[in-house]
Amino acid sequence: MESKNKFYVTTPIYYVTAAPHLGSLYSTVLADTVSRWNKVLGKKTFLLTGTDEHGQKIALAAEKAGKDPKMFVDGFIDAYKTVWKQYDINYNHFIRTTDKHHVTAVQNWIRMLQEKGDIYKSSYEGWYCTPDEAFILDPGSTGEKKGSNPLCPDCGREATWVSEECYFFKLSKYQDRLLEFYKKNPNFISPKERMREVVSFVESGLKDLSISRTTVSWGIPFPDDEKHVAYVWADALNNYITAIGYGDTKKEAEFNYWWPADLHILGKDIVRFHAVYWPAFLMASGLEFPKKLLVHGWLTVDKQKMSKSLGNVIDPAVLAEKYGSDQIRYYLLRQLAITQDGDFGIKDLEQRINAELANDLGNLLNRMVTLVEKNKIEIVRSPKIWDESVFKLRSDCKTMIEQFCFYMDDYKFHMALSEVWKFINSVNSFFHSQEPWKLAKQEHGEPFMQVMSATAHSLRAIATVLWPVMPNKMSQLFESLGIMFEPGKQMLDELNKWDQNFMLKKLKETLFKKFEPSEKNSNVASEQKQLAHKDDYIKIDDLAKITLAVGTIELAESLDGSDKLIKMKVNCGQFGIRQILAGIKKFYSPEELVGKQGVFVLNLKPRKMMGVESQGMMLTAQDKEGKPLLITVPGQVPNGTTLR
Ligand code: MSP
Repeated sequence: MESKNKFYVTTPIYYVTAAPHLGSLYSTVLADTVSRWNKVLGKKTFLLTGTDEHGQKIALAAEKAGKDPKMFVDGFIDAYKTVWKQYDINYNHFIRTTDKHHVTAVQNWIRMLQEKGDIYKSSYEGWYCTPDEAFILDPGSTGEKKGSNPLCPDCGREATWVSEECYFFKLSKYQDRLLEFYKKNPNFISPKERMREVVSFVESGLKDLSISRTTVSWGIPFPDDEKHVAYVWADALNNYITAIGYGDTKKEAEFNYWWPADLHILGKDIVRFHAVYWPAFLMASGLEFPKKLLVHGWLTVDKQKMSKSLGNVIDPAVLAEKYGSDQIRYYLLRQLAITQDGDFGIKDLEQRINAELANDLGNLLNRMVTLVEKNKIEIVRSPKIWDESVFKLRSDCKTMIEQFCFYMDDYKFHMALSEVWKFINSVNSFFHSQEPWKLAKQEHGEPFMQVMSATAHSLRAIATVLWPVMPNKMSQLFESLGIMFEPGKQMLDELNKWDQNFMLKKLKETLFKKFEPSEKNSNVASEQKQLAHKDDYIKIDDLAKITLAVGTIELAESLDGSDKLIKMKVNCGQFGIRQILAGIKKFYSPEELVGKQGVFVLNLKPRKMMGVESQGMMLTAQDKEGKPLLITVPGQVPNGTTLR
């Protein structure tokens, strides 16, 4: 009964505790590829991404950074948008859960459920996993504990005890209706195994869900009861509807056009929220369910889980700079079977770029264009009648397009790409077997033209299906074929006609650059360090911006109320007497410091600590035991002497 020719696809919205990493990039590249593929199919598309900015996890991270949560999250938004731009993520909207419209819409949504009787007030006692922002349903099942606290059965991190008044959503009421829905829609979740897990979870009995917190203040205030803030998942899941106009009377038509979502893309760790809570929320709201959930596996890096402590959290910006964003997009989709966990490795990446992109595809284009140029052919015309030698290639091309569509329909990107490479190999074999460099010497040149035309038609088909995966590189390929590419023209049928004339053009730079294989033992972490290092340099002018000078500590005393800080009066010669605070009380008594000459940064913006202003910073270096040793000059120099 599908009448709308549209496709609405979403990524999860990311917790903003840092800049995006490779895992966030993966979900987003998948969504962008799906959206672009639907454009090729002639559909109108909407791609939604954004950030999940409330909740305890963010509040704690902000506190650790000494920042107000809103300022803390604001600090990462540019990094997200810059990386998405770098990777050609063509999103239609970037939602932030702190956006005013989202906040109001969520509050109205809560009000509506309260009026309907689906929300009631009670209290919750139990374990909570802050990194997952999840109430732990069965702590007993893990069997593992740290001290007296159980570990989260999903992520293995330590849970905390929560006991608070809260509002509950009547999830249990929807249990039977959810089961009925799963039964009628067995393809709701891809892959199917995830569906089985969800069904057995719901069958085991749904308890009502706490949807507010009183021990967290960073969230959407509950309407008419501001002691409570909305539980972060009740806030976040709604982004999928608020972003397209839910709750805004002026945008009703827009909302009705895009909703229901055609595809939510998400990682395997957040299936329960999307497959159980979200449909229940929608049912309670009288809204349709999304059509499908695509659940992807997790990326490991050099066979290890990405983590800050292992130093292998990959910065997509650094990676794109060295290898190119399209190459990374290709690798993510080609290397990983979407529904399983998969590994990201530098050697594999380089191998795929060199063998598949540079050799198989890039060289094919280059050889064809070079031959055409050498023989001074301006237009490669398609023959009126194709020779038998081309029949097999045409049929391979048709099969490739059909198979590609088949796998893309099922979101098996790696299989779809493997079909394209099978065809690229056929084109290469055809090209070689025809020996066009010999044909070029023949008088009438028709056989030569035919080989060139067949190759160009094949490359046109390849570029069309690969455009959703490598939009930038494939646009260059189209340019080299002399074709204007406009997705949305339902061009797949056209591809089998083979009646196009091409004005080939050599690209200024080769399509895919090859990479010298990295050192034997190199891994993503070491590679990244090297790459990042390149950007670590500062210019001499940057150094000149810092005023480093010698000063003598003339007075020192403990700062009242602080167990760390010592307040000093430092004679900095030409820079005057400065009041400087240093967190060294554990290691030095004030008396020890008086009379010492040290090195100070004198043009840092003055800053207040415990209400007292510090007008500079003392330089220290930690010894093995962690004691900060004062940096001094080897002999006496006049106070105020600057360092060079
Ligand atoms: N904020 C929630 C989602 C709310 S959606 C309404 C959240 N955020 S997250 O930042 O922790 O994760 C976002 C997505 O990134 C999830 O789908 C998660 O699976 C994915 N990934 C995080 N690390 C990943 C890998 N190492 N590999 C692949 N994807 C991973 O959950």
